[in-house]
Amino acid sequence: MKYILKLILMMILIISSAISYINPDAHAVEQDQWEKIKARGELRVGLSADYAPYEFEHNVNGKSEYAGIDIELAKKVAKDNHLKLKIVNMQFDSLLGAIKTGKIDLIISGMTPTPEREKEVDFSNPYMSVQQKMIVKKSDADQLKDLNDFANKKIGVQKQTQQEKLAQTEIDNADIQSLTRVPEVIMSLKSGKVKGMVIEGPVAEAYLKQNKDLTFAKNVKFNEGSKSTAIAAPKHSPELMNKLNATIKDVKDKNLIEDYKDSAAEAMKKDDGNFFTKYGNFFIKGIQNTILISIVGVLLGTVFGAVIALLKLSKIRVLRWLASAYIEFLRGTPLLVQVFLVYFGTTAVLGLNISALICGMIALVINCSAYIAEIIRAGINAVDKGQSEAARSLGLTYGQTMKSVILPQAIKNILPALGNEFVTVIKESSIVSVIGVSEIMFNAQVVQGASFDPFTPLIVAAILYFILTFTLSRIMYYFEGRMKVSD
Ligand code: ARG
Repeated sequence: MKYILKLILMMILIISSAISYINPDAHAVEQDQWEKIKARGELRVGLSADYAPYEFEHNVNGKSEYAGIDIELAKKVAKDNHLKLKIVNMQFDSLLGAIKTGKIDLIISGMTPTPEREKEVDFSNPYMSVQQKMIVKKSDADQLKDLNDFANKKIGVQKQTQQEKLAQTEIDNADIQSLTRVPEVIMSLKSGKVKGMVIEGPVAEAYLKQNKDLTFAKNVKFNEGSKSTAIAAPKHSPELMNKLNATIKDVKDKNLIEDYKDSAAEAMKKDDGNFFTKYGNFFIKGIQNTILISIVGVLLGTVFGAVIALLKLSKIRVLRWLASAYIEFLRGTPLLVQVFLVYFGTTAVLGLNISALICGMIALVINCSAYIAEIIRAGINAVDKGQSEAARSLGLTYGQTMKSVILPQAIKNILPALGNEFVTVIKESSIVSVIGVSEIMFNAQVVQGASFDPFTPLIVAAILYFILTFTLSRIMYYFEGRMKVSD
């Protein structure tokens, strides 16, 4: 046992050092990123758009647009340097990884410089200063007033934020519940899963406006006081840093942050209309993308799966072994991990700049191909051995036997199972939301942020997934019935 563990560890070591060796970016990191950005002509700014008034999405004539103080700042950085701006919306806790692997050039996401973060990135001069607040349910407001009242209580925070740190250091024995996105924490608070939430002042105000059941904990004041917010850039990029600080100086000289705040407040004003007129298009886009990635996943997955299945059935041992290893690895690791591997791996290891949508599709295709390979193999194996013996003794070659005797029968076993796989993929595809593919789940999260309503978008997402899978399985039953008839 010990021996096997050692062997596995050694393999992991060898593979990862090989990967970092061929990683072109690993060497490029030492070079000023400014040159790269200039050559590309596009500035990719990473942020987590769950953070009004800093960054959020809102509806403009039925189209979703980014707005907020950080967005305005990002626009100014781009404009000052004659670059096109690309906003990359992702989870807050993925931002540092993304900048290190070269997925994004900057983080402008209400980020506070901390010693830990400074090990990974460099920070510009500050452009704002903020204070943390505690919010509670109105019904608890009388019991939970100052910091001591929160001792031993469940406290919600956004994962890997300064707020998480604060709850750990300033509240006695707090039971901290970290969630990836701000609306999720708000939802925990509203449903009573946590008693308080540590949240940045202006963000708190934005949410309190839309959630009348929440309020500030009256006397909570954190010792840390006010902290600054800055832009994060890759290390060792003095030229890029100069450009950033030049823009920030200009912003300060002209007092532009106040203007940015005003335009953020304007964008936050609820546009009229009901939930569906306002956010319907988010869900429609989500449905389109979910269907698209699922179809691509299953179709290309079938093509590759068929190849893998044939390899696994082949007479040559190495091929069989390779196919098995491929299938076992993909079925034995979570899709979530595979999605991240493809997303970060394509840039960090291969140095490619591929969109999240394509990365999501690649991950799904690879994952599907393993499951479908097994479906196809099982389908072929299920055909009675006598069939191929009979065919071969009639003088058909292996290929002919496969093509005209085995496969036509195997198809009947395979098709229903493929249909099931399709249903699974529609549901599983929600996982690619973590890298920012705007399918149903991702857009539901966007609507959570835009509407400050954490619950309704989830219900809508659930219903949409159900409609898709239910319709699909009805269609499958119909065809299965017809296939039985043809027997
Ligand atoms: N200021 C906090 C930090 O630096 C939280 C920032 C969260 N930003 C966001 N866009 N969700 O850790």
